Amino acid sequence: MTQRITTFDEFRDAVSAYRLPRVLLVALELDLFSTVGDRSWTIPDLAKELKVSERGLSILCRNLAAVGILQKKGASYKNSRLGATALNADHRAYRGGYLNLIKSHWADWIRLLESMRSGLPIDHDTPDSPDYRRQFTWAMHHRTLEIAPAIAAQISFAGSTTLLDLGGGPGTYAMAFLAKHPLLRATVCDREAALEVAKEIACTHKVRRRLSYLTLDFSSEPIPGTYDVIWYSNVLHIYSPEENHAIFRRAWAALRPGGRFIIQDAFLHDRKGLYPVEASLFAVSMLLFTRGGNTYSASETTRWLKEAGFISVKPVPLKEGTEDWEGGILEASVPGPRPKTTVRQTRSSRDKKSR
Ligand SMILES: C[S@@+](CC[C@H](N)C(=O)[O-])C[C@H]1O[C@@H](n2cnc3c(N)ncnc32)[C@H](O)[C@@H]1O
Repeated sequence: MTQRITTFDEFRDAVSAYRLPRVLLVALELDLFSTVGDRSWTIPDLAKELKVSERGLSILCRNLAAVGILQKKGASYKNSRLGATALNADHRAYRGGYLNLIKSHWADWIRLLESMRSGLPIDHDTPDSPDYRRQFTWAMHHRTLEIAPAIAAQISFAGSTTLLDLGGGPGTYAMAFLAKHPLLRATVCDREAALEVAKEIACTHKVRRRLSYLTLDFSSEPIPGTYDVIWYSNVLHIYSPEENHAIFRRAWAALRPGGRFIIQDAFLHDRKGLYPVEASLFAVSMLLFTRGGNTYSASETTRWLKEAGFISVKPVPLKEGTEDWEGGILEASVPGPRPKTTVRQTRSSRDKKSR
């Protein structure tokens, strides 16, 4: 999405875009979709159940129906498929972890001016508590559980047997890679509280026997072990250029000759460093929540990788609509015997193998 604002009307429309998000968040705050469940409700009955006014609810439900998230029949409302599943706490596909995170963002973004003035995160004195880390890790799992398998299907790990998911959080990506590549073993590296969640998620998953865990603060400690591949997904933006530089050097030291460092993040791609808009907006989150984080251009990240000793830095193209971020993967190699893994698995190469 590239939005240009050149007229007053476009400015007004852009600012007024808060209205629908607020309506959606109020529905989540009421846990409306769980209450609606698989029944059809009249406004008076649902208002009684949710303990809200009939007037307020009828306006809210009308707006939810207008965007298709509820369905209206006569004077009654029922859930859409999305409402009945991912937004419904009683359904196994519920993505409550991520919904809780985005609910909390409304109050955080209200405080943007504070961060703008201080240059510091809004809760800069609050330590990263294990409770917060657990919730955040569930949120990351609920965010990526569909994207991770789609991405795993497009990255070849042929010839690689060891993967480190650095800052892997819930291990959703590591598990998706393991599910796709039967000869691969993976280690998820993160903080203790995040790894507890990763273990809970993995315990029902077939690939758990090929998964191990490493508790480490990789922003200050060397990475033990040697790996064929290090996957660094959605971590780059948390840190300043200097911090990432130091992490890149640690990653380099933990890769075998010819090993690959694959970075996934919200890269900027144009010469001026403005686009995609989503990547620039994501930098605002980093201002609110981190001390030195930002989003970076693919070209400056490439330069840091080369300064850390990596070679052959190149983007990994993915099918449109299957990406976590637009143009969001960069791959770099440690000098040494070239791994057979740099070839992206295309449909035709997969087909040939399976024949
Ligand atoms: C935004 S999450 C990304 C999770 C996952 N890689 C993904 O792409 O969905 C960043 C993760 O990096 C972890 N992390 C950040 N800095 C870290 C550090 N210095 N040591 C260990 N883990 C760290 C966080 O705890 C968190 O789980």
